[in-house]
Amino acid sequence: MIIILFGPPGSGKGTQAQRLINDLNLTHLSTGDMLREAVRNETELGKKAKTFMDSGDLVPDALMIDMISEKISSETPAGGFILDGFPRNLAQAEKLDEIFAEKRRDVDRALLLDVPDEELVKRLSGRFYCPKCNSGYNYPLSLPKTEGVCDNDGDKILRRPDDEEDVVRNRLKIYHSQTSPLKDYYQKKGKLTAIDANTGPDAVTALIKKALAPFSKQAEKA
Ligand code: AP5
Repeated sequence: MIIILFGPPGSGKGTQAQRLINDLNLTHLSTGDMLREAVRNETELGKKAKTFMDSGDLVPDALMIDMISEKISSETPAGGFILDGFPRNLAQAEKLDEIFAEKRRDVDRALLLDVPDEELVKRLSGRFYCPKCNSGYNYPLSLPKTEGVCDNDGDKILRRPDDEEDVVRNRLKIYHSQTSPLKDYYQKKGKLTAIDANTGPDAVTALIKKALAPFSKQAEKA
């Protein structure tokens, strides 16, 4: 099964992907995580991507398409993929269809996580992570036991540089102008399911599982 999870920054793509991978036996491909790893390791890609990411702009398509097609070719997942953060515009969506067509595969479902902008700004201003073990925290949803430090290793928890409010506003602007047209793209292909993600994480997971149930059954039979 090949699932695309798309939606504005902070809509819960990463949170939901982590919850679904085991149940549905899917490999999680998060372009944001891949880019942050490249930035941490100071690779050529990381150096090129950093300025775009820090300002909340999209990293150029050529870099992103090379990165994702290499990753898809190097993985042989038993169950399939859940893509989080790719595609981000029409050019990327068309290229992704070509990549899967070459492998005689196709996207099964594109799930849009729908959340109003002001809720997203609130969620992202409360997001923290541990730079050592990557555990995530959210004020007030999931607080560490001791204020400001990671439960696992006691390291100081940090905010992503692109979670500053002015950068979040730019990311939202880019989402609405460049990523939002993917709704029509997948709607025309009969593959879109919009999920009301302006509710708690458990309720969102339940809605996604319900939407994917017919496709999981088909994948089991294949
Ligand atoms: P990326 O990392 O993909 O960022 P994003 O799409 O902006 O998404 P986020 O990771 O911020 O949010 P999310 O939807 O995963 O939400 P999360 O689950 O964390 O990309 C970063 C940058 O990389 C981009 O800006 C761009 O520069 C570059 N990039 C990446 N892909 C690219 C591409 N294809 N092309 C070009 N450039 C690319 O949740 C957010 C917070 O809310 C968390 O604290 C969480 O605990 C909380 N939360 C989650 N669900 C709920 C809920 N239901 N209720 C309340 N709180 C919740």
